[in-house]
Amino acid sequence: MDLHNIKTPSLVLDAGRVRRNAERMAARVRGFGATLRPHVKTHKCVEVARIQAEAGAGGITVSTLAEARAFAAHGFTDITYAVPIEPGKFEEALELSKLCERFALITDDPSIPPLLDEAARGAGVTLDLFLKVDCGYHRCGVEPERPEALEIPRRIEDASNLRFAGILTHAGHSYHARTQAELLAIARHERDVMTEFAARLRAEGVEVQTVSVGSTPTATHYDHLEGVDEARPGNYIFFDAFQATLGSCAFEDCALTVLAAVVHRDRARRKVVLDAGAIALSKDRGPSEFDPACGYGRVLDLEGAETGLRVSALSQEHGEVQVEDDRLLDALSVGARVRVLANHSCLSAAQHAHYHVLEGARVVDRWEIQRGW
Ligand SMILES: Cc1ncc(COP(=O)(O)O)c(C=O)c1O
Repeated sequence: MDLHNIKTPSLVLDAGRVRRNAERMAARVRGFGATLRPHVKTHKCVEVARIQAEAGAGGITVSTLAEARAFAAHGFTDITYAVPIEPGKFEEALELSKLCERFALITDDPSIPPLLDEAARGAGVTLDLFLKVDCGYHRCGVEPERPEALEIPRRIEDASNLRFAGILTHAGHSYHARTQAELLAIARHERDVMTEFAARLRAEGVEVQTVSVGSTPTATHYDHLEGVDEARPGNYIFFDAFQATLGSCAFEDCALTVLAAVVHRDRARRKVVLDAGAIALSKDRGPSEFDPACGYGRVLDLEGAETGLRVSALSQEHGEVQVEDDRLLDALSVGARVRVLANHSCLSAAQHAHYHVLEGARVVDRWEIQRGW
């Protein structure tokens, strides 16, 4: 099978690039003396996680309990669920912890340790609980100077059925860095905030098992990771147009594209319409600060070469592409096929049920995506 005879729209995963990305990041993090705990929310796929494990990753990070369930059922039993836990998920999390060698949760709220402790006692399990730290993203987490930053670890330590796993942060603001220098500064800041905070906690007598950091832009820019135990990048396994524009990778490293067919051509308006719309690509705008014309994805030919075209507008099942070049407009007749390099691979992947796995020009396999919550 090849890209001419699979259904569109569908995901196409370049297996060679996945292996290369897995090996490079594992070697990079290992070189810094830390452990790689990849965030599998990017791919939600057991086969991809196996490639990461073979390359040297230790344990995984998940963003849904559905991912935790699916990966635990396939032998991944060292899992961190890296979205703050809330009481409505306690029961399922406790059940999952029984299937795992280690199942860690995170919190940034002082009300959670005593409640979770009580639930864990009731279930007869002991859970690892991290303090989520805000290192500048301001999405979730406690800023290290706040009183809760000491209060929460103490409450965890006081709990009979919880272990204080350590401190964990995600520098999501790295996606808004405008220059490489700014990105490097955010990467250093993410690390330094965490190592300084760990030192303060230790000086207060709190035992900090693990200092955990990670996003793809920072993981590709750290200059060292002294004092850090693990890094949790996720997107690096596929990369995407956003990361390549930001400078986290080269365009040739991007492993995921959406195969699409032309369903309409309008020579007068100089445009074609693809059968890949917002549901197939995601509506993530991408790095419009760096590349105002980025649109919703780059249009590549079937071999993966740039055409220079962008998906400029999206509705649910339609993707519009403006085509000024006559030769391209001739070539893009109804039924012609292209590959779209989406802005944000994690969001594109999560829309689909499986990947078509590409080795060279051949589609050799189909790997399932573990969706839902
Ligand atoms: C808590 C947490 N850790 C790690 C990551 C991985 O970051 P990235 O997607 O930049 O690789 C994310 C991504 O959102 C996250 O939320």
